[in-house]
Amino acid sequence: MVKGGPPNATITREPSGAWTADPGPLRCPRCHGALHRTDAGFDCDAEGCGTSLPVRDGVLVVRDTTTGDNKIAADFYNSKLWPKFRFWERFFWVCNGGERRSRDVILRRLPKSPGLCLLDVAIGDGAYTSWLPEDWSIVGLDVSTVQIASCQRHNPGHDLRLILGEAEELPFRDREFDAVLSIGGFNHFKDPEVALREMARVAKPGAPVVVSDELPDLTDRMIGHRLGFPGFDRWVVSKLMHLGDDFTDLVERHRHIDIAEIGRRVLNDSRYEVIWHGGGYLMLGNAP
Ligand SMILES: C[S@@+](CC[C@H](N)C(=O)[O-])C[C@H]1O[C@@H](n2cnc3c(N)ncnc32)[C@H](O)[C@@H]1O
Ligand SMILES: [Zn+2]
Repeated sequence: MVKGGPPNATITREPSGAWTADPGPLRCPRCHGALHRTDAGFDCDAEGCGTSLPVRDGVLVVRDTTTGDNKIAADFYNSKLWPKFRFWERFFWVCNGGERRSRDVILRRLPKSPGLCLLDVAIGDGAYTSWLPEDWSIVGLDVSTVQIASCQRHNPGHDLRLILGEAEELPFRDREFDAVLSIGGFNHFKDPEVALREMARVAKPGAPVVVSDELPDLTDRMIGHRLGFPGFDRWVVSKLMHLGDDFTDLVERHRHIDIAEIGRRVLNDSRYEVIWHGGGYLMLGNAP
């Protein structure tokens, strides 16, 4: 977590988020105490804690340095590899009937309630945020400064508050959100189960938690794996598809995670469905 100091995030645009004087669902990520607004951001009320969370260009910075797998993910999504990989993401959407249709398979699992308070974990560039009802109040969290800045640009005017931070340590009080969503990042979180426990903790009891991503072992279907040459697939993914060596290694290391089992351990009435013609999954359930 950030304790004052000079900003090192690369967010440069004018803010569209709305971190006002009201801390809303926020709590101190260190001591879990209450926060209050200052000119620079939010400070912890608890005596002796001393945590200060800056708001930079409209984004609340809870953690701007990461380690391990989250650093690999942040470095990838902050790099020039991501826009190059984007071509393949678009190709994937086209193969599944278009982006809107593919994403709607997930988004329609959210309740339609007016004024819903949604947490989007790993919101990325918020490609679908503007499709959500205008009267929803949305908090989006992501580990990448570049993605968060892009999300601001794409969603001016929405009631959207953005946080630079990690899914495994959500800076919110228990039982605050009407629904929690996470698309496209879950497989590669440093600790997906800890992240899901956090999502369930901050959701109101019974609130839906909706998670989706590609199947973790998608590369098993590639031609090299089938012919016994997984190294060929690794080259394709890393170089041709531009995931880069570090992120490709991360994808490979996480390919055996059992998403359905994680859902069963954490959520009530947990369900797991394969979507996108076998390319992805939807795991959902209700917060205990
Ligand atoms: C493929 S993008 C998906 C973005 C968006 N949800 C979408 O569907 O377009 C994955 C996102 O997960 C974020 N991410 C990866 N690990 C994370 C973590 N541990 N905590 C928060 N965000 C994370 C990345 O920075 C990236 O923006
Ligand atoms: Zn504190």
